[in-house]
Amino acid sequence: MKKPGNATDPLWYKDAVLYELHVRAFFDSNNDGIGDLPGLIQKLDYLQDLGVTCLWLLPFFPSPLKDDGYDISDYLNVHPMYGTIEDFKTFLDAAHDRGLQVMIELVMNHTSDQHAWFERARQAPKGTPERDYYVWSDSDQKYGNARIIFTDTEKSNWTWDPVAQAYFWHRFFSHQPDLNYDNPRVVEEMFQVVRYWLDLGVDALRVDAIPYLIEREGTSCENLPETHLLVKRLRQEIDANYESRMILAEANQWPSDVRPYFGEGDECHMAFHFPLMPRIYMALRQEDRLPITDIMAQTPEIPGTCQWALFLRNHDELTLEMVTNDERDYMYLAYSGDSRMRVNLGIRRRLATLVDNNRRRIELLNSLLFSFPGTPVLYYGDEIGMGDNIYLGDRNGVRTPMQWTADRNAGFSRASPARLYSPVIMDPILGYEAVNVEAQQGDPSSLLGWMRNMIALRKLFRVFGRSTLEFLHPSNRKVLAYLRRDDEQSVLCVANLSRFAQPVDLELPELEGAIPIEMLGYVDFPPIGKQPYRGCATYKVRSSSFLFLWI
Ligand code: NOJ
Ligand code: CA
Repeated sequence: MKKPGNATDPLWYKDAVLYELHVRAFFDSNNDGIGDLPGLIQKLDYLQDLGVTCLWLLPFFPSPLKDDGYDISDYLNVHPMYGTIEDFKTFLDAAHDRGLQVMIELVMNHTSDQHAWFERARQAPKGTPERDYYVWSDSDQKYGNARIIFTDTEKSNWTWDPVAQAYFWHRFFSHQPDLNYDNPRVVEEMFQVVRYWLDLGVDALRVDAIPYLIEREGTSCENLPETHLLVKRLRQEIDANYESRMILAEANQWPSDVRPYFGEGDECHMAFHFPLMPRIYMALRQEDRLPITDIMAQTPEIPGTCQWALFLRNHDELTLEMVTNDERDYMYLAYSGDSRMRVNLGIRRRLATLVDNNRRRIELLNSLLFSFPGTPVLYYGDEIGMGDNIYLGDRNGVRTPMQWTADRNAGFSRASPARLYSPVIMDPILGYEAVNVEAQQGDPSSLLGWMRNMIALRKLFRVFGRSTLEFLHPSNRKVLAYLRRDDEQSVLCVANLSRFAQPVDLELPELEGAIPIEMLGYVDFPPIGKQPYRGCATYKVRSSSFLFLWI
């Protein structure tokens, strides 16, 4: 018998609103300065009230934490700092009781060098299955066509291991050896990990670093056919035993290279749309819709059961790997004046700081996120407009404690401030005294209030998660206008990307006679007639604004 999931609709992820959070950063229940699972349970009411529907937990497994938990030393347990496996089960039940789904990380590509498999492999004789859990070589010249991803810290994808007397392969940090999926025992181990968490009732898995699972000489070692075969096997394993579960591909690749991760609906249910994200910021800064329409024109159709995951920010740098060199130069210039804002090929800032804390732009970006075809993914803290700290190393500046109140430690913990896993943001404008949940909950016109409305709106109209997108082509390129429609609902979305009010004429011959309703205020707009539609020009296409019209 297949094990049912918590969601009843197998396509639940199409209507979901995902919320990404780190247990460590959310709420500290035992005052040791580190967020934990019991703390997260205490904050479920907040998340339910916000209206998000699926919680994405960053890695919470035992780990030396040299890559914030993406360096796993035991896949089948919880890091003691965050609680116990019993705490996780309690959390999962509590989330499910509130109708929330839960997505966790499946870090398939690599382990920590402190994982028992690696300890065993480096001691095992060459040619044994134990040794071959990882990818070894006598030379550091093999697979020379593979790029380096963490360009700031790594000079090679090979590191010499004095115990094994060989080089081991790693696409990320040199303490993260890549697993060898040519070894059937590794595949079986990872499937056991999958079964363990899905048996507990986890709804979804984010498959970290999916393009790099298998390597072959003479290739870039990314997106290989063998990798797709492995992903298909993973999907078969899940489909054979479970219902209503979802896997999400983390493939930071061009749309044409991500498309195969959906297969014919037989690989991943979802995949992040990495190239769209920086182009949304480009369009905003250039006040020109072209970067967005251009990348959408390059985005292939996907199978009916599949869905894009859309995001503005996450726990990593705003990655600029999937842009041209000119576009990257532009983005650096426009969004990272200080070189400390950059890391690897990207920008380590939060949403609010990227747009100079401009409320209208934050709303505009979120409106695009919520109305584009796909499922929106929010990053914790961005719903209140939290700031960042560019003086912290690596990507830690966007991983600071959640700002709950104006009290000590932002209400995140009652530990001595020196003991916190990270300092809280103390900036006078974006720090916790000015920006926190408690203050915004008491203010109906706060960003948090606006986000709650936007989430509610999105959930009322299934068309956002389930329909296609048709761009309109008004001559004013500062305006991005599109229709989302299915058999039952039509929504006209109009974004003014400019800092100034803009005129726009929209050609809507098929909709003649319809009376649009503005969806946030439920206000009737003038009927659509034979002339180009100007209803929005007279009312709301003011600077950096967004208009939702229900038709
Ligand atoms: C992608 C994750 O998002 C990132 O945080 C991590 O450093 C790498 N994978 C390596 O696991
Ligand atoms: Ca704690």
